[in-house]
Amino acid sequence: MPLVPVSVLLKEAAAEGYAVGAFNCNNMEIVQAIVAAAEAEKAPVIMQASQGAIKYAGVDYIAAMVRVAARGARVPVALHLDHGTSFDQVVRCLVAGFSSVMIDGSHLPLEQNIALTRQVVSAARPVGVSVEAELGRIGGVEDDIAVTDREAFFTDPDEARYFVEQTGVDSLAVAIGTAHGRYKGEPRLDFDRLSRIKELVSVPLVLHGASGVPDEAIREAIGRGVRKINIDTNIREAFVGAARRKLDENPQEIDPRKILGPAREAAIEVIREKMRVFGCSGKVRG
Ligand code: G3H
Ligand code: 13P
Ligand code: ZN
Repeated sequence: MPLVPVSVLLKEAAAEGYAVGAFNCNNMEIVQAIVAAAEAEKAPVIMQASQGAIKYAGVDYIAAMVRVAARGARVPVALHLDHGTSFDQVVRCLVAGFSSVMIDGSHLPLEQNIALTRQVVSAARPVGVSVEAELGRIGGVEDDIAVTDREAFFTDPDEARYFVEQTGVDSLAVAIGTAHGRYKGEPRLDFDRLSRIKELVSVPLVLHGASGVPDEAIREAIGRGVRKINIDTNIREAFVGAARRKLDENPQEIDPRKILGPAREAAIEVIREKMRVFGCSGKVRG
């Protein structure tokens, strides 16, 4: 199947009240794991390339691997740019065949974020590519934001409405208490804020930093309008954990396939578990 825009997948998810998993891919084994999990679960799926993945593998390699995976897949697959940093980077991804892009202007003052996001929408929409933007700061657990300052970084619901109206984006990443990477304690999500944003904003909402968020909280977020959920850290933990165990068992091993094969299997399992929690399992019929 050709790559599908994320907006198409999220529209179906909204109609049926589930969320689509967006999984970060950094190498061939993880691309294969994501598509294998999606086929096993009969789930639509989003593969996304982070800034780190682009530096490591390059836009063209990622696009080629994901295209090959999607071509043979019995489920719809989207290829999405994660936390795009500039208009130029977006254009490089459009040329490489991505079906969706995120432009992350969340560090900019509101009007500058709007201007950058509008520019991206005006380039992506005519070629059928959907656009995600971010309002509020999601950040990483390593950012060490004091608990009292946390809410200052959260998405303001009225601003979210204005932002979506002004930009015409297809989906919006919101800051409601999640962070990228491994949590130190249990994350506390601001569900009331999420519901207020959902009331005011017409497009599907995106939850970043979802690794380590308890399943119950994930289900609650989906019930309140989240339609795309990003997972990277949990895949890294499963993948590297399995590779490490293999090397510990046999420190003399020199065949990369004997190390990365089990890592790929471990990634498939964690991705399948997430898909079941997100409610997207079994949504591809036929
Ligand atoms: O944006 C979220 C990713 O988890 C960051 O990943 O280190 O590959 O850029 P990266
Ligand atoms: P985690 O690393 O916390 O899973 O977050 C992934 C993410 O939000 C990518 O954009
Ligand atoms: Zn993110």
